[in-house]
Formats: sequence, structure tokens, C-alpha cells
Amino acid sequence: MITTRAGAPRTSSSSSWSSSSGAVAVVTGGGSGIGAALARALGDRGVRPVVADVDLGAARAVAAQTGGRAERVDVADPAQVEQLARSAPDARWLFLNAGVLGEHLGAPWEVPAEDWRRVLDINLGGVVNGLRAFVPRLLATGEPAHVVITASLAGAAVFGGGGAYGPSKHAVLAVARHAAMALEGTPVRVHAVCPDLVRTGMSPEGMAPEEVAAHALALVDGGGFAWVPPVWRDAVRTGAAALAGGEAPRPPEPTRPAAALLLNGTVGAGKSTTAEQLGHLLDQRGAAHARVDLDELRRAWPAPAHDPFQQELALANLRDVAANLRRAGAQRLVLAGVLEDRASRERCERALESPLVVVRLRADVATVRERLQARHADDDGLRWHLDRCAELHGVLEAAGVDDHVVDVDGMGPAEVAAAVLRVAGWDAQAVTQKRT
Ligand SMILES: NC(=O)c1ccc[n+]([C@@H]2O[C@H](COP(=O)([O-])OP(=O)(O)OC[C@H]3O[C@@H](n4cnc5c(N)ncnc54)[C@H](O)[C@@H]3O)[C@@H](O)[C@H]2O)c1
Repeated sequence: MITTRAGAPRTSSSSSWSSSSGAVAVVTGGGSGIGAALARALGDRGVRPVVADVDLGAARAVAAQTGGRAERVDVADPAQVEQLARSAPDARWLFLNAGVLGEHLGAPWEVPAEDWRRVLDINLGGVVNGLRAFVPRLLATGEPAHVVITASLAGAAVFGGGGAYGPSKHAVLAVARHAAMALEGTPVRVHAVCPDLVRTGMSPEGMAPEEVAAHALALVDGGGFAWVPPVWRDAVRTGAAALAGGEAPRPPEPTRPAAALLLNGTVGAGKSTTAEQLGHLLDQRGAAHARVDLDELRRAWPAPAHDPFQQELALANLRDVAANLRRAGAQRLVLAGVLEDRASRERCERALESPLVVVRLRADVATVRERLQARHADDDGLRWHLDRCAELHGVLEAAGVDDHVVDVDGMGPAEVAAAVLRVAGWDAQAVTQKRT
């Protein structure tokens, strides 16, 4: 049983990634795929990863790239994981990520006993061994710490076949949820990532492992418990509802295309004008839609000191406004706002309860300056907007938060809107709903 320390201070929702105190991150299965991407992302944030893998050569190669160190560890063996924890007393971030697919992907009774044992020992045992070895030590430090568990979409929804893998990941997710609940009120937070296919040693297709690593770190930054790819969220809900209703399981279906589109970009990039034009195009296609300017959802003064841009208020409003608009019949939401990082995108998608497609309008800084000079000719905000625009341009270029970027220089508003519709997959074929 995991002992919690009632009354211990809660960790803040953001984690300091500074390793100046010598704090380290441990990544199991760090020699390849998602684990290697995690180790690299940690290295980029100045955190020295302990790259733990049963394949020592692979772990060494990743450790060399990331300024970390390598450990040969078989996560299925509690004694080896205990030794790993002993060797990393300054661990503050633990990524329990090692896993295997198994050799036999048939129905449960077709999978040989040995395969069941190996998959459960590594996938489930690896997580349990990690929690048993590290959590008491993390609690003993009294410092904020994060345990990030690589589960899988296969643990949040039931796909046919898959051998022992899917059931092992259901168990992993259950352990993650139990651990998160048991650690409530302590400085140790538990998070679970549930990706669908990822291009790694395990799968030749899917999203890039770097993308999963970014979502995992965004969970730590944003304080959320789980990340499920947006297109699968409805399927996970439907599966739970079917179970509650006593229905037989059916293969899950992804949601496509995304029902909400966010226009990202600096002030002066043309987000509001494009949103208006998009409205006309959706109207022409008979698609029931609504537009929301995220800035309008945060206009309340004074802002609390801990949230000067009123992010929390904007998200709470977005949740309610989106629900009302959907109830009123809107099938597509067009949002205009600024998303500076993946954690903000995650929070926005959670508030919308819908996947987002994010399209950034990128204008030359000189063009934006001209627009701002015209817009703010009569007020004293011009200097602030000019500085902010240049700063934000750099932030958005580096953030990697957009699904698509449209370079708008030399294009008229209608052209920009048509390009956005096209890249978002909201073109004539995709947008066929008629108003009722
Ligand atoms: N690739 C996908 O499509 C996908 C999707 C969802 C979840 N996942 C999960 O992501 C995690 C990482 O897998 P990946 O996709 O990066 O695959 P991968 O095969 O590229 O990497 C897995 C790593 O784990 C190591 N490993 C295997 N058994 C181990 C053991 N007993 N002890 C220590 N290390 C061990 C391997 O040597 C390898 O370096 C797994 O838990 C997997 O289930 C993968």
C-alpha cells in the first residue's frame, strides 16, 4: 500500500525544470522510441536524464546525446528497479515508460502463457516496481515530484485483438489512477500518457515520439492527469458509457475532422478578420457554426496576481460558452486567440471537450507593424503592441503548437480563410452538415 502524507503541501501546477539543485529525471525504456525522445526533451530543458533500459548499448547512446547517464535495468525485476532508485536519490521526475508489445496479438485464449507473463511482467510489473521503489523515496524528500506513466490508448479503449498488450495497458492505467488518488494531497503528482500509434521500435507508423514526449512534459507543466489524443476522446467516453449501460464492447472510432478550429498568431496577424471570413465560407457550405474571440472571454479587471492574463477565467468561460453554442446547434467552432505552448493547447481542448485543429496565421513582422500603426494611431498602446508582436512572433515560431501554418503576406482576407479551411480539412467535402 502506498502511504500518503496527509496535510503535506500540494505541488503547484507547474514544475521547475531547473537541475541546478542536482535533481535528475529517470526514464525507463529510455534507449529507444518515446523514452529516448523523453530523455532528449529533458536534456533540452537542462535536466540530466538517467536513461534506464534493458539494452545498455541503446541507453548509453541516448545518455551520450543528452548529458545523462545510462543504467542497465530490467524493469520486470523488482530488485533491479530498487537498485535504480537507490542510484538516483535526487530523482524528481520519473518516467515509467518501458514496455513491449508481445509476440502474439490474437484473442486472449490464443496468447501463450509465456507471452502473457512477459508482457504483464514488463508493462504492468515495470510500472508497479517503479512506483514501489521510487514513491516512498520521493515522498520522503517532501519536494514536488512527478511520475509520468506511458500507458496507451489501448489501455483507455478496447480494440479487438492485441494479445496481452491491451489488457496490460488497461492495468497500467488503473494502477496510474490508483496511485494518483492515493497521492492526492502530497507533493507527488502522477500523470498518464495514452498515445495511439507512435513511430518507434514498436510501430512503423503513427505520430513522432517527440510529439508524445512534448505531451508528457506538457502534462507535468499543466498539472493534468492524462493525455489522450483528441480524436480518440469521444471514443473513450463512448466506451465508458457503453459499459455503464451494459452494452457489448464495439471497436472504437476516432472523431474526424476536428470540430473546433483555433486561429493562432500574433496581434495584427489577421485572426479576427479571418474568423469572420471563415464564417462566410462555412455559411455558404451550410455548416452551423459559431465564432469565439478568446480575448473577449478574459476581459475582467483586476486580474489576480497569480494569473495576470486571466487564463483561468478565459478557460472557464470557454467551457460554458462552447457547451451553450453546441446546444444552440453549432457544429463547428472557430476560435481566435493566442496559444503560446502545448500546455495551453491541452487546457483549451479540455475546456472545449473536443480536439482542436490549430492554424497559425504568420505575417511578416513589418506587415504587422504597419497594421498596428494604423490600428493604434490614436492611442498610446502602439509601443506595447509593437514590442509584444515581435516577442510573440519568436515565441510562436519556437512553440511547435500549431498543426498548420499559413503565410498570409500578399493574400486577401477571403484567400486566407480559404487556405485555412483547406489545410484544416474543413473544405467543401468535409463540411457537409446542413442547418436544421
Ligand atoms: N509505439 C506505439 O505505437 C505506442 C503507443 C502507445 C504506447 N506505447 C508505449 O510506449 C512505451 C515505449 O515504447 P516505444 O513505442 O518507445 O517502443 P520502443 O520499442 O521503441 O522502446 C521501448 C524501450 O523499452 C525497452 N525495454 C523493453 N523491455 C524492457 C525491460 N524489461 N526493462 C527495461 N527496458 C525495457 C526497450 O529496450 C526499448 O528501448 C511502451 O510502454 C509502449 O507500450 C507505444
